[in-house]
Amino acid sequence: MNRPDRHVLLSPSLLSADFTRLAEEVKVMEDGGADMLHVDVMDGHFVPNISIGPLVVESLKRVTDLPLDCHLMISDPDSYLAPFAKAGASIITVHVEAALHLYRTVQTIRELGCKPGVTLNPATPLSVLEEILPHVDLVLLMSVEPGFGGQSFIPTLYRRASALRQMLNDAGNPDCLIEADGGIKLDNVAQAFESGVDVIVSGSGVFGTDNPAETLREMRRACEGVSSI
Ligand code: DX5
Ligand code: ZN
Repeated sequence: MNRPDRHVLLSPSLLSADFTRLAEEVKVMEDGGADMLHVDVMDGHFVPNISIGPLVVESLKRVTDLPLDCHLMISDPDSYLAPFAKAGASIITVHVEAALHLYRTVQTIRELGCKPGVTLNPATPLSVLEEILPHVDLVLLMSVEPGFGGQSFIPTLYRRASALRQMLNDAGNPDCLIEADGGIKLDNVAQAFESGVDVIVSGSGVFGTDNPAETLREMRRACEGVSSI
């Protein structure tokens, strides 16, 4: 389906922000026109790193009205859905590799008043999504192995996004957003958008630059005018 009037949504990852000045970093992202804020939650079990939990989400909620896009890289997402919803998450995304009862998990996220998302590691086939696609608001395609910021982009993302867009149309859920996460910077953001990605996550590609707000604006400009599927 051709969607010529779609617009990119930018979700900078706070994982690469300066945690000693988190509120200021959030303001910089607001200034740069961020559409939401990507919050990476890691448990040291599903991924080999530990990051932040509901307490930080609650603090973020107090300093911004931007939607909080919470990416749960944790082994037992079901036990933490309510705490993240209560803390102020707008989107809660769980890994299909971690959620044992995905349908129930997705329903629970919706019942908690949040938008449900599901995410796939780079080597997980898209076909695992077949049954759940009609029920989700967002699919997050990882373009690095989850766990750390600053890794190299895995270019299979492009064909996976295009194929997923087709699957969503076939599943009768064309409004479902496709998000991409990992290794996205100014030089590949337009190609990601063009391949069918709606929501761009970028951590080091934004916060690692001299002027993160301006980089965010440049990313949006890079995607504008790009022909899209
Ligand atoms: C990785 C996280 C990403 C990460 C992206 O596990 O899910 O959101 O912050 O960082 P960059 O953009 O630096 O690859
Ligand atoms: Zn993430």
